[in-house]
Amino acid sequence: MVTRVATVAFEGIEARAVDVQVQIAPGMVAFNVVGLPDKAVAESRERVRSALIASGLALPAKRITVNLAPADLPKEGSHYDLPIALGVMGAIGALPADALAGYCVLGELALDGSLTAVAGVLPAAMAANERGLGLICPAACGPEAAWAAGDMDVLAPRSLIQLANHFKGSQVMARPLAAVAASSGVLPDLRDIKGQEGAKRALEIAAAGGHNLLMNGPPGAGKSMLAARLPSILPALSPRELLEVSMIQSVAGQIKGGALSNRRPFRQPHHSASMAALVGGGINGRPGEASLAHGGVLFLDELPEFQPQVLDSLRQPMETGEVMIARANHRVTYPARFQLVAAMNPCRCGQALEPGYACRRGPNERCMAQYGARISGPLLDRIDLRIEAGAVTAADLILPPPTEGSRETAASVAAARERQTTRYAERGLGAAITNATCPVTVIEEAAAPDADGTALIRDAAETMRLSARGFHRTLRVARTLADLDGEERVRRVHLAEALSYRARVEKPVTA
Ligand SMILES: Nc1ncnc2c1ncn2[C@@H]1O[C@H](COP(=O)(O)OP(=O)(O)OP(=O)(O)O)[C@@H](O)[C@H]1O
Ligand SMILES: [Mg+2]
Repeated sequence: MVTRVATVAFEGIEARAVDVQVQIAPGMVAFNVVGLPDKAVAESRERVRSALIASGLALPAKRITVNLAPADLPKEGSHYDLPIALGVMGAIGALPADALAGYCVLGELALDGSLTAVAGVLPAAMAANERGLGLICPAACGPEAAWAAGDMDVLAPRSLIQLANHFKGSQVMARPLAAVAASSGVLPDLRDIKGQEGAKRALEIAAAGGHNLLMNGPPGAGKSMLAARLPSILPALSPRELLEVSMIQSVAGQIKGGALSNRRPFRQPHHSASMAALVGGGINGRPGEASLAHGGVLFLDELPEFQPQVLDSLRQPMETGEVMIARANHRVTYPARFQLVAAMNPCRCGQALEPGYACRRGPNERCMAQYGARISGPLLDRIDLRIEAGAVTAADLILPPPTEGSRETAASVAAARERQTTRYAERGLGAAITNATCPVTVIEEAAAPDADGTALIRDAAETMRLSARGFHRTLRVARTLADLDGEERVRRVHLAEALSYRARVEKPVTA
């Protein structure tokens, strides 16, 4: 007879149904796992054997065959331990025959029979719920699984014995409660930054409309400091976004203690990051920083220090909002709709833009051109807000702290986001859509300027030789500026300010 247990295999953030079939037959004593298992799955035999022995169950001296169907789907990870162990327990009669019928199962076993947390519980729970099944997962992942649906049957045992007792009826387990991560401490506040009013304004616009931002300035001007304060003014995730963002974190094994957080992701990979680390991939086709920043911010500090090829790999996800990773035996897609925030020095010595500075290596322009050449034109074209964060003067530094801090800025950002959400909901678009991500046809209509504005953008498009993308992106920023002002119509002032962000650093970087 064959015992069947439902589990899943992950393709990107999709959980595909996998059937674990266990057969115990007379014959030479063996324990085989077939069905395209990777190394971790093949090793699961040893963990299952030890965990069953530790739980007081000896394996029968027979031929045990485990098949993971469908056989052509690659199986990766350690979460097959639990379904295999439960299948074996079902087959030897240690569990009631029909106990597992209504459940999807995933979890890793320790040698002593306790269960270890695994990645991907949230997407597995959502998939199980869609198939009308309950979920059995390790206790540490229970609070994560409980997010999938309020009425779903979730069992989160600490060990094999606890689960066996539950099915026998001697120790019935309660459903775990969905947990939210306690916001860890106070975020750094914009109030700490002296001067830099222009940069703070740009940061506010970027947060309000989800625009990409590049800060260019000398060392010690406060660029990294500004970026670190962005999370304090970003709006919280909506419940829908929360699940989407958490699914990626779940697959990447980044959810601590099963608790989800409604803070927007803020990822800041070091500039030594490889392409696989940034956009995803590697042997297992894992999500990269671009996907982990989905719905939030990808902050690249010291932008020209990244390898040019690695930077250019972001170009496609920045347009499409997703990353498609193709490997010999994988083809997975991860969402990657992130907002790019970057900081850089204008040149290697960092001072080229300072008035009166003369670089020892030749003309300032050459020094800047050499350094800036590491960033490709198409990547720059995707950055709507480019600002110069000049050095702060001593006069600025001895001033008392500004009265407006992150709280006030966050409130105006939230109001501007609210206007966008309502506007795009009226047009049938999702709640996560911002001025930066709405379709071109929609922004053309929503940001249609008045007569004065139209004249300005027509002239500017010619004199500044804006690309078609540049034209639309200017409209997007102008729409955000109007939203921050609480205005229905985009006016000339909004367009003028939007254009100024596109023009400013243009010359120094590409000179
Ligand atoms: N505008 C500012 N207000 C207050 N302190 C500042 C400001 N700018 C810089 N500082 C001080 O200088 C330190 C360095 O700033 P930060 O690391 O943000 O500079 P940066 O512009 O990122 O420089 P680099 O280009 O070298 O990375 C901060 O920790 C802070 O103490
Ligand atoms: Mg810095």
